[in-house]
Amino acid sequence: MFKNHTYTNRYSMMNAYRPPKRLANIGESATLKAAEKARELRAKGVDVISLDVGEPDFPTPKPIIEAAYRALNDGLTKYSQSQGLIELRDAISDNLRRLYGIEYLPDEIIITPGAKMGVFYALTAILDEGDEVIIPTPAWPSYFDITKFAGGKPVEVMTGENFELFPERIDSSVTEKTKALLLNYPNNPTGVLYDRRDLEKIAEIVERRNLLVISDEIYCRLVYDGEFIPFSKISGMKNRTIIVNGFSKAYSMTGWRLGYICGPKNIVKEILKVQQQTATHPTTFIQKAAVTALKECEKYVEEMVKEFKFRRDIVYKGLREMGFKVQKANGALYFFPNAEDVYSEPEKFSEHLLEKIAVNTTPGAGFGKGYEKHFRISYATSREKIEEAILRMKKFLRLH
Ligand SMILES: Cc1ncc(COP(=O)(O)O)c(C=O)c1O
Repeated sequence: MFKNHTYTNRYSMMNAYRPPKRLANIGESATLKAAEKARELRAKGVDVISLDVGEPDFPTPKPIIEAAYRALNDGLTKYSQSQGLIELRDAISDNLRRLYGIEYLPDEIIITPGAKMGVFYALTAILDEGDEVIIPTPAWPSYFDITKFAGGKPVEVMTGENFELFPERIDSSVTEKTKALLLNYPNNPTGVLYDRRDLEKIAEIVERRNLLVISDEIYCRLVYDGEFIPFSKISGMKNRTIIVNGFSKAYSMTGWRLGYICGPKNIVKEILKVQQQTATHPTTFIQKAAVTALKECEKYVEEMVKEFKFRRDIVYKGLREMGFKVQKANGALYFFPNAEDVYSEPEKFSEHLLEKIAVNTTPGAGFGKGYEKHFRISYATSREKIEEAILRMKKFLRLH
């Protein structure tokens, strides 16, 4: 009797879980997976150089850490407003006005647990089942999966040879199901920044086709040449744009998980429901520390950008010397070269770099169909490591 009981329990437990259909098409994060591989090798004692993740190697600026301590000591350890601390929304509003001349009132802003969650909230709040989202590729892999998770269908539209947007291709990909266009510049993985003319062409399509735009501006402070123009600044676009941004990259706060959304009040109201019914709000004392980031840490951002620019130039020079035909990236933390330029098995280039010379990059396949021969190289790590990685790559290419 006892034996039978145990058997039944075990048997039924084996059948109790089946992943729901909603998750069937959702993949693991390609970028996190690549980083994980390097971590495993490192644990085995291999001297891996990580040029994979887009995580600044700088410590979080001291004033932010001290502000977090103070906030903890002051008892900011309780629930707070779901939309986010008003003080932080005010600071974001001031910052956007000061940096870009765009006006967002605090009630048009929601503080989120990271920009990734911001993308999830925004897509959840705008998509009906089966709605299409146009994603210019190559693109940050999470866009595809988050769109599916939110019930939508990602529609990949390839960019041009130098990763420039292709307005005609975007226009001809619009169907009656298209709800939104997802823009990301400076771009992950290409580093490309769009200028006003590019954006105006896109705005014309957005207007004519009656679309919304999710503008992921997480790299907007990491610009080395040219000017970042927020999409909502283009005439007629503010009412159609949901800005997603965050503190991870500009303030080296990846682990703090803090971001924000700005958008038209009617959409923000719906997005807020998603936050209320999931995270409630991001951690209260972290929000308080982020006020210090915006108000007191400009000099840290400037120093970091200067250093990233220097590293970008090292990587660009190194890649050109190896024979890659890459263009100079204007921003973000990456290059996205085509390995076909230099290697006979381009689809395996990234894998071989890790296996043979312990340099970890991210394979291109995850960034969109048609980019299997590319790989992403991040310069978020130190100059010394970047230089060593380039030496290893040059030597590897001489032998293969
Ligand atoms: C394009 C893009 N958007 C969003 C994110 C996520 O940012 P967060 O750390 O704020 O969630 C990343 C992180 O790599 C990114 O590359």
